[in-house]
Amino acid sequence: MKRDFINLIDFTKEEVLSIIKRASLFKKTRHSNSKSRKVLDRKTIALIFEKSSTRTRVSFEVAINELGGIPIFLNVRDIQMGRGEPIKDTARVLSSYLHGIVYRCFKHEMLCELAKYSSIPVINGLSDYSHPVQVLSDLFTLYEHFGDIKKLNIAWVGDGNNMANSWIEAHLIFGFNLTMACPKGYEPDHQLLKKALKNKNFKLTNNPVEAVYGADVINTDVWISMGDEEESEQRKKDFKGFQVNKNLLKKAKKNAVVLHCLPAYRGLEITEDVIESKQSLIFVQAENRLHAQKALLEFIFKKERSV
Ligand code: CP
Ligand code: NVA
Repeated sequence: MKRDFINLIDFTKEEVLSIIKRASLFKKTRHSNSKSRKVLDRKTIALIFEKSSTRTRVSFEVAINELGGIPIFLNVRDIQMGRGEPIKDTARVLSSYLHGIVYRCFKHEMLCELAKYSSIPVINGLSDYSHPVQVLSDLFTLYEHFGDIKKLNIAWVGDGNNMANSWIEAHLIFGFNLTMACPKGYEPDHQLLKKALKNKNFKLTNNPVEAVYGADVINTDVWISMGDEEESEQRKKDFKGFQVNKNLLKKAKKNAVVLHCLPAYRGLEITEDVIESKQSLIFVQAENRLHAQKALLEFIFKKERSV
């Protein structure tokens, strides 16, 4: 059976850990591991994107290439789907040409529909609901830095957006302590919250200081995600006080690290000095997208081959 990667929660803890460990090996042996080149052996994988991307697009293209596959980038405006061709028709047609699809979309339901009607694996390259490939890479980054993920105190400061939802799923999988500070009205997905709030070590607050107090990891993201641009001015007002800056960082543990999936808006959700500080793992995080996605592709396509 094909394995899609729509949400982090689609995978078990053991599966995520095995991918993280492989990512570590891919990182160490990037220029010497000839075996890894054969995993995608001339398989063609399309990247269908409705939104801009630097990291996801480039890291997937390079990952696919380095695993011996062929990436095809498709801006949704250039294919008939952009003119309204039904996704279920697109899915069936593309399944007959390709071996896999990475899809970045506005509406999560479109992604689910694509996965449902495709006979090939579909990977979520970001939707309005979740961003699992980013959080997979972030978990790898924390594993590299701290070793054991399970014991960490992780704080989320900012919007309850796609990244926040995937962090809740990571909490549900690994059971680490997660405290999220979101302004009123910007909480994460209601269903996910309902599940997480059953755990004693998950908290939701409106107070960023409470969230970062004693944290090992401070995590944030843009206040205005792709698709939210019309709300820009209101959001800038509502998120005042939710900036990750030196003062906030001081409330966390001395050796706390800062994560941001990028792109960042300096002076809004995060300050320049925090991005550039020694506590920032932001650019390691970005590099790790490549290694984590190679491990993800290997996991998905090795499974494919064995059936
Ligand atoms: N973090 C991330 O997904 O970046 P891009 O939008 O550049 O792909
Ligand atoms: N929450 C952001 C993440 C960008 C990688 C967005 O959806 O625009």
